[in-house]
Amino acid sequence: MNGIRIRGTGRCVPERTVTNSDLAKIVDTSDEWITTRTGIERRHHCTGETHGALCAAAARRALERAGVGPEEIGGCIVATVTGETLVPSAACALQKELGLPEDIPCFDLNAACTGFLMGLHTMECLLTASRRRYGLVVGAEVLSRILDWTDRSTCILFGDGAGAAVVEWNEEFDSISAELGVRGDDQVLRLPGVETGGHSYLTMDGKKVFKFAVEAVPECIDRVLRRTGKAVEDVDFFVFHQANARIIDLAVRKYRIPPEKYYKNIQEYGNTSAASIPIVLSELQEQGRVRSGSRVLLAGFGGGLTWGGALVEFA
Ligand code: ACO
Repeated sequence: MNGIRIRGTGRCVPERTVTNSDLAKIVDTSDEWITTRTGIERRHHCTGETHGALCAAAARRALERAGVGPEEIGGCIVATVTGETLVPSAACALQKELGLPEDIPCFDLNAACTGFLMGLHTMECLLTASRRRYGLVVGAEVLSRILDWTDRSTCILFGDGAGAAVVEWNEEFDSISAELGVRGDDQVLRLPGVETGGHSYLTMDGKKVFKFAVEAVPECIDRVLRRTGKAVEDVDFFVFHQANARIIDLAVRKYRIPPEKYYKNIQEYGNTSAASIPIVLSELQEQGRVRSGSRVLLAGFGGGLTWGGALVEFA
């Protein structure tokens, strides 16, 4: 006991849509290659919108849907690798923008695409320790800022956006039973920072990440099911990090998950890293496909190399 449930979710993506055909005008690629290899058809990229504005809009929607006021929030975590400034953190900027209480922990968390999952677990620990009732966890990225527009193997994959969840802690709630880990590798996926004076691009060995992901996702599912004593049939919905449709398809096939129990929106957003899972959650809640009592298994992986899974219920 001592756990969190998700009460409300929200998302915000930039207005500008970039299609595969748009990208084919700047790098040697095609709509056909991108769709068949990744499932991505378009993604949203910031033009005027800032990282802070995406975070604030997603968080406001989550608060509204949860029926929770900013003054009730007991902690704020923003999972991101693309905040506008390292200091102040995106979470501190959000505290100011939303008028969150002053006496709560607010900080950014870097676990690449697993950031939202690690953020949920961290928030559960924080709220359990403080016995505050509500927490705000945001995943937000402006990845278009750190892409190498001459590298066709990476620039086609990523999109910008933010997703947010307001969670409720109660000593009667089950823990989300997060299973988190790292297979340390500093070469497969890199975004150098300070060492390059701040001007750096994301590089990735896609094949190696793919291989890692197809092992990590089932490992996350198995661990969470084992820890919670649940079976695939006990889970109402499976939410996967949206990095490649083929990775999701392989997991779905392995566990014989029926189509009404999982969701893909990678065709619309590409890989939004830490924002991908909360964006899915907010679409599912908006569509009424997850509601109070729904038990959702989250599975993600990313740079680090990080991996994580959790079973979270909606309040
Ligand atoms: N358009 C056309 N051709 C391309 C493109 C492109 N955009 N990109 C690569 N190619 C070419 C390659 O040059 C290669 O050509 P060659 O055979 O002549 O050398 C060929 O296509 C095959 O390339 P592969 O890299 O082997 O393609 P693959 O089928 O592995 O697909 C992809 C690449 C889509 C990147 C895949 O490996 C993948 O999805 N990996 C996982 C990536 C991922 O999940 N990243 C997110 C990590 S999370 C985070 O924290 C950011």
